[in-house]
Amino acid sequence: MNKRKKVFSSRKLPGMAMERLSEQFDFTYNHLDRNLTYEELLEEAKGKHGIITMLSDRVDGNLMDAAAGVEIIANYAVGYNNMDVDAATERGIYLSNTPDVLTDDTADMAFALILACARRIPEADRLTRNGLYKGWGPEFMLGRSVSGKTLGIIGAGRIGTAVARRAVGFGMDIVYYNRSRKKDVENLGAKYVSIKKLLSESDIVSVHVPLGKETHHLIDRAALESMKRSSILINTSRGPVVDEKALVEALENGVIAGAGLDVYENEPKLADGLSSLENAVLCPHLGSATRETRGKMADIAAENIISVLNGGLPKTGINEVAK
Ligand code: NAP
Ligand code: GLV
Ligand code: GLV
Repeated sequence: MNKRKKVFSSRKLPGMAMERLSEQFDFTYNHLDRNLTYEELLEEAKGKHGIITMLSDRVDGNLMDAAAGVEIIANYAVGYNNMDVDAATERGIYLSNTPDVLTDDTADMAFALILACARRIPEADRLTRNGLYKGWGPEFMLGRSVSGKTLGIIGAGRIGTAVARRAVGFGMDIVYYNRSRKKDVENLGAKYVSIKKLLSESDIVSVHVPLGKETHHLIDRAALESMKRSSILINTSRGPVVDEKALVEALENGVIAGAGLDVYENEPKLADGLSSLENAVLCPHLGSATRETRGKMADIAAENIISVLNGGLPKTGINEVAK
């Protein structure tokens, strides 16, 4: 009889992680080239001891009950707003995420969006390919300087601080808002300010808080109206941190100058009107999307599963479980 523990991943993972899991466990994964529906995941979860989930998978108490006997659910993401942490803790189930390995790539993505918006790069690329480049001109396609401007960072954790590190190289003044003071970002010269002051004084505002009750629509209509008309909003955190409908209106009406988004309120759907705005740069949730990082994220998720299913603790656990 095969007594090996059962592990399931809701997507195929890059790198060697799946092979490592197969050596020790009865490992299966979703072979489809798409995310599972909630009902499909519920079915797959039955009888599993370890599950690797994506940020789009809803991991709630009901799913945990369907997976009776599950010991760990390892999210293939650093953000875990898709998971009910209390429900897991009550049931003695470990949850884990994939911090640190994706910090630099996600900060690079935020900075790419800053430059893309300020210098109008996607718009310029579209124009050039469409044969509309008729020659250099003093007032042709002017953007806004990034160097020397003020960057406002909302949420100065791992990724927010990594964005600040990049901004230092661009000679930017940095202000930040976080619910607690952060030494690492202050050591880079960032000044702690209220969110109100940050919004009204920054040329570029970049959001890096996790999604939770307190941060849902943190950037709402009033916040957008308090920003400079020349300012740019960057969101690589989670879509619902920004009121996307209010943002579309702000971009249409010149309340702010531009926005660079990697995340959306109802992924993969976009708010009405967003995709026709020239002053929005839109990426399909690619913050951690490099070959290198996605492989490392898979390794961490696998290590967490291996450790817990062998009686240990997850290396990057989210909750504490009484055993
Ligand atoms: P982190 O190190 O935990 O940083 C989050 C920061 O936000 C912390 O400094 C935290 O402050 C602060 N914060 C939390 N709640 C707050 C609130 N209500 N008001 C003000 N500040 C608050 O996380 P990270 O690794 O930098 O990741 C940040 C987020 O980025 C993730 O949660 C995820 O949603 C998103 N992300 C997106 C992508 C992508 O592909 N676009 C990739 C990776 C991550 P404390 O220190 O006081 O708790
Ligand atoms: C991606 O969005 C993550 O949270 O890792
Ligand atoms: C622009 O190409 C310049 O030389 O200033």
